[in-house]
Amino acid sequence: MAASTILLLETDPAAGTLLSGILSGVGYQLTTVADPDEAFRLAADHNLVVIDLLSAGRDPVEVCREIRRTPALAAIPVLCVAQSDDVEARIRFLEAGADDVMAKPFDARELEARVEALLLRFRRSRDLSPLLTGDGKQAGGRHLIAVFSPKGGVGTTTIAVNVATAIAERSPGRAAIVDLDLQFGQVATHLNLTPRQTMAELARDDAALREPELIRSYSNHHDSGLDVYAAPLSPELAELITPEQVGLLLPTLTAAYDHVVVDGGHALDERTMTVFERADIVVLPVPPEFAALRALRVLMDYLTDAGTVTPKTMLVVNHLFARDVLNMRDVEGALGGKVVAEIPYDPVVYLKAVNEGIPVVRGAPRSSAAERLVKLSSMVSDEGAAPAAQVERRSGLLGGLLHRA
Ligand SMILES: Nc1ncnc2c1ncn2[C@@H]1O[C@H](COP(=O)(O)OP(=O)(O)O)[C@@H](O)[C@H]1O
Ligand SMILES: [Mg+2]
Repeated sequence: MAASTILLLETDPAAGTLLSGILSGVGYQLTTVADPDEAFRLAADHNLVVIDLLSAGRDPVEVCREIRRTPALAAIPVLCVAQSDDVEARIRFLEAGADDVMAKPFDARELEARVEALLLRFRRSRDLSPLLTGDGKQAGGRHLIAVFSPKGGVGTTTIAVNVATAIAERSPGRAAIVDLDLQFGQVATHLNLTPRQTMAELARDDAALREPELIRSYSNHHDSGLDVYAAPLSPELAELITPEQVGLLLPTLTAAYDHVVVDGGHALDERTMTVFERADIVVLPVPPEFAALRALRVLMDYLTDAGTVTPKTMLVVNHLFARDVLNMRDVEGALGGKVVAEIPYDPVVYLKAVNEGIPVVRGAPRSSAAERLVKLSSMVSDEGAAPAAQVERRSGLLGGLLHRA
């Protein structure tokens, strides 16, 4: 088995050398960073985060709290190192959601034991789920994943299709994608499908909108094991699908499948608001570009005012351009929120994927684009997560972050 990876957040070089020396000495792979924002972006790639000393002005307790509030990082344990054996300091870490706290000075064996215990505890809870609830549905993981952008051409469909395909490859027959970009939706194109049935036909069948077994007959099967609910074939048919029908079909789909990904398109209307309300997580892709950032900020402010989406939003930067003018700090500053994932630029793979109708995760599985998209699919679906109640308790990303801005 590959060595467990540990992310160490540390500003004191001597303490960093000591901690990483102990842990790499017993076989762990260490990454040490001094910047909490960088730690945020790297956390998902590690099995454990250790927070030690931070530079002046950054409170380790707050950093711990922010990590614990981020739904995408719910499955990663956090060990905090208190600078003295003061009970108050340790309690503050625990209240901020630290999974364990260790006080200085400590013995190397204590550090090893705590790290090993945490890794084991989290691995075991991952292995135990998905748990079955009384109605036979999976309790762990997220059922309804929406992807939406106020601006077009930013990778919404690319992300929705690749995330859904990656989930379906892990769970064939148990994942669906719904194209709610109802006027000009391109999900079927990205998957090289000619739909037999679309949302327009489904909308006319009231029984199918309510019955998990019946709704499946409106899906188009993709080789990956993904069921595709395609957009109508002509823009004027979009009006046939009402917000009430969207409200009916979403719970029916989540009863029929373990994971349902919605391509929400770019129009904010009652239908997409229904999606936001019902979704377990809303992925907001954004390129590091000013107009897109502005549009997204307006959307986020609107949703916060409308009281809709708060705790379940996930900002994903999609590097659409060969060269970025804005860096991650600019992006996070403009949005007032943390970016938890980045999708890399590529001049060829995405374009080829759309033209051939083969998603990147299948057509170019070794590309770094595919690697990132697969990673994102696990983050958003949280397949290995603890039961929903625990995930809920830890969520709250956007609520807290928006108000800081
Ligand atoms: N990271 C990226 N690098 C390069 N091209 C990309 C990237 N992400 C998406 N694209 C391309 O950008 C175009 C728009 O993507 P799409 O997913 O259709 O956006 P949207 O659904 O938001 O309108 C597509 O041609 C896609 O291949
Ligand atoms: Mg699209």
